[in-house]
Amino acid sequence: MILVTGGAGFIGSNFVLDWLAGSGEPVVNVDKLTYAGNRANLAALEGDARHRFVQGDIGDRALMDSLLAEHRPRAIVNFAAESHVDRSIHGAEDFIATNIVGTFRLLEAARGYWAGLPADEKAAFRFLHVSTDEVYGTLSPDAPAFTEEHVYEPNSPYSASKAASDHLVRAWHHTHGLPVLTTNCSNNYGPDHFPEKLIPLMIVNALAGKPLPVYGDGQQVRDWLYVTDHCSAIRRVLQAGRVGQTYNVGGWNEKTNLAIVHTICDLLDELQPRADGQSYRAQIAHVTDRPGHDRRYAIDARKIERELGWRPAETFESGIRKTVAWYMANADWVRDVQSGAYCDWVATQYGAAGA
Ligand code: NAD
Ligand code: TYD
Repeated sequence: MILVTGGAGFIGSNFVLDWLAGSGEPVVNVDKLTYAGNRANLAALEGDARHRFVQGDIGDRALMDSLLAEHRPRAIVNFAAESHVDRSIHGAEDFIATNIVGTFRLLEAARGYWAGLPADEKAAFRFLHVSTDEVYGTLSPDAPAFTEEHVYEPNSPYSASKAASDHLVRAWHHTHGLPVLTTNCSNNYGPDHFPEKLIPLMIVNALAGKPLPVYGDGQQVRDWLYVTDHCSAIRRVLQAGRVGQTYNVGGWNEKTNLAIVHTICDLLDELQPRADGQSYRAQIAHVTDRPGHDRRYAIDARKIERELGWRPAETFESGIRKTVAWYMANADWVRDVQSGAYCDWVATQYGAAGA
């Protein structure tokens, strides 16, 4: 079995669902259920004996020690993090606590568990740390995309905290021999994405008739990857990645923010035209830029392709269409997340223990 952290969030829940759809190997899923964690993302697994959900903090050493001793996972996949740049600008405390201190404590728990394993299980054990391309900082328009050798130049409190966690993971390998793997992925999109991030925010605001707030000139560039492609990359790295290595994961799909927003508006114009006949583009509002806003991220994903044969399966055109359709079909999910009522739903459906 494997132990996943942060598996009630956007990428983690997609990962757990995909994992159990493609394998019989059980998952213990440890998630603190912050505002970003949502048991509804895992509703399809209710009653599935292969999935055990535990509400808990990766920084709770006693909890992690006991879960590792009880379940004896062959791998840990660490998604748990505070993940939103804008929130990290308003207050970085939780980012330091989870992304840095939490990762440190999880590494220590993993090290203690791993050290006590029999030789064959010890050799097979993996600690996979899920990280971001944002640790590399920002690129000028014509600069080559980030390779795994790119210097770390994090610019936001979020990316600085993720960079710190990557360094700890690296050090636990070099100093203590812990068999780690790190993935640095570009911007994900898809179902269950919390509507504070660009793509889901634009879809739900458009449908609600609200302004579409584009920071600054909207010419910032991100590389976008459909979430299930990120999940397949993580599975592949876990299966065959070389211990101690990092793998960049990306979609070969650089777009400006404004181009993303235009695409979403055009899809909605097709799928659910506004009553007044105008395009959803009429709702675009340029607002004050994000402080320290990174201009461009781009991923060179050739290493993971060369060594592990991974490439994204989804095109942006197919992925964004599926994503828009998902949000249109899941208005209840959006409403519950936005109202905070999903917390009540968890308590009602699963009780306070969350087990
Ligand atoms: P998310 O914010 O949607 O989910 C994070 C999850 O972690 C939530 O369920 C939350 O409850 C949980 N969590 C937070 N603190 C915790 C703690 N102390 N202990 C246990 N659980 C805790 O984030 P996401 O977008 O799913 O990102 C998952 C991981 O992937 C993060 O590490 C993030 O840095 C990384 N990443 C994200 C993207 C992206 O585009 N979203 C891209 C590259 C890498
Ligand atoms: P976001 O989804 O927050 O991801 P990240 O900052 O980690 O890349 O933002 C993606 C891009 O969209 C980023 O350049 C900031 C921009 N953005 C807006 O223009 N308006 C918004 O309301 C949000 C949330 C983001």
